[in-house]
Amino acid sequence: MNQSSRNKRISTESFYKNLFGPLLQNDEGIDPELLTQAAINALGHASKHRNWPGISTLLATVNQDLNRSDKRLEQKIFGCDFKNPVGLAAGFDKNGVAAGIWDHFGFGFAEIGTVTWHAQPGNPRPRLFRLAAEKAALNRMGFNNNGAVVMRKTLKQQKLLQPGQRPVVLGINLGKSKITPIEQAPDDYASSIEILAPFADYAVINVSSPNTPGLRDLQSSKQLRRLIQRLRRLPSCPPLLVKIAPDLENIELDKLAKVAYEEGLAGLIAVNTSINRLGLEQRILSSSGLNLSEEAGGLSGAPLRPRAVEVIRRLHQATGSKLPIIGVGGIDSPEAAWERITAGASLIQVYTGWIFEGPMLVPRILEALLTQLENHGFSDISEAIGSEAPWTTIHSSDH
Ligand SMILES: Cc1cc2nc3c(=O)[nH]c(=O)nc-3n(C[C@H](O)[C@H](O)[C@H](O)COP(=O)(O)O)c2cc1C
Repeated sequence: MNQSSRNKRISTESFYKNLFGPLLQNDEGIDPELLTQAAINALGHASKHRNWPGISTLLATVNQDLNRSDKRLEQKIFGCDFKNPVGLAAGFDKNGVAAGIWDHFGFGFAEIGTVTWHAQPGNPRPRLFRLAAEKAALNRMGFNNNGAVVMRKTLKQQKLLQPGQRPVVLGINLGKSKITPIEQAPDDYASSIEILAPFADYAVINVSSPNTPGLRDLQSSKQLRRLIQRLRRLPSCPPLLVKIAPDLENIELDKLAKVAYEEGLAGLIAVNTSINRLGLEQRILSSSGLNLSEEAGGLSGAPLRPRAVEVIRRLHQATGSKLPIIGVGGIDSPEAAWERITAGASLIQVYTGWIFEGPMLVPRILEALLTQLENHGFSDISEAIGSEAPWTTIHSSDH
């Protein structure tokens, strides 16, 4: 990195820290959902008009600051070319409004959604809570989204390149509509896939959100098999992954890995938010005065990290490393990213940590991954996956 891009990166960093830092420092500041909505509206506008001169100049600066390209970070997984292993997790761009610009933020892939067949408002507000001291969040959004038909229109409007030709891999995360009974879930997911498949490099069956009643029952072997079989029969079905909960018992993880493998899934995404309170049972939410064990919703961010790593390790063992795993949950530093990859994740995703640390988290992770590869004598990222190589502070020049 030359001095001028380093300076720009520092200015991007101070821009983010100055603007959002004070708002993220405590629980009481601006409502996190309002903040997210404002950010996503701005990003959506930028994506739709990314060729307008002012916007394209701004995006070029962001791009220069946040992108790090290096052959050693590239991988071909389930037929998709990932320029690096760091992706944006589902739930931030629920309607895909910024699908055309995620590459500028340094990501190798972005997952939009969760989208459902029927548009739905989600749960009553407030439904997203910041836990600033713990660098965590609690959410019970309940799949608020505009529905699959509107997502298709939104993606069309952005004039994206065809799958396979884009600078970032685009995944679409699909959920079950709240009004659809659980027995009809396979048809509900299938309707969404049928119309969104032409835009997706891969699709994710989300059966792990804690905020749609009954959804997580679809993780049982019998129901999951039925669901996968229904979707894989679709002529247009893209590579299919399943996103799972961190709260499954280890034995259930083993069963799930078996089903995934036998049914020809392209991979697994682990993990979604947790209904366990992960040591924060007595933590009071200032907005309601109730503690976390009395509040509904899923926990994300730093407290999720230990369990998320355990799940990856278990799945990696259970699949005999034959099935790609995307690791997500509590990744907020280069060390956490390295830990997830060396535990068995081929790719990783960020959400809560990305909000707290800012967009610079992505290039920071990418630079550190390259240093770790050098320190361990690995020729590329694929050699690090599941290697259990420890995080090391030795710089390659010390060898
Ligand atoms: C506000 C919020 C909304 C989310 N919405 C979704 C969603 O719609 N679909 C989904 O699969 N995961 C969703 N997630 C879960 C994240 O994709 C991710 O799996 C989880 O937050 C753990 O990662 P993290 O600790 O980096 O945030 C959401 C998370 C948050 C914080």
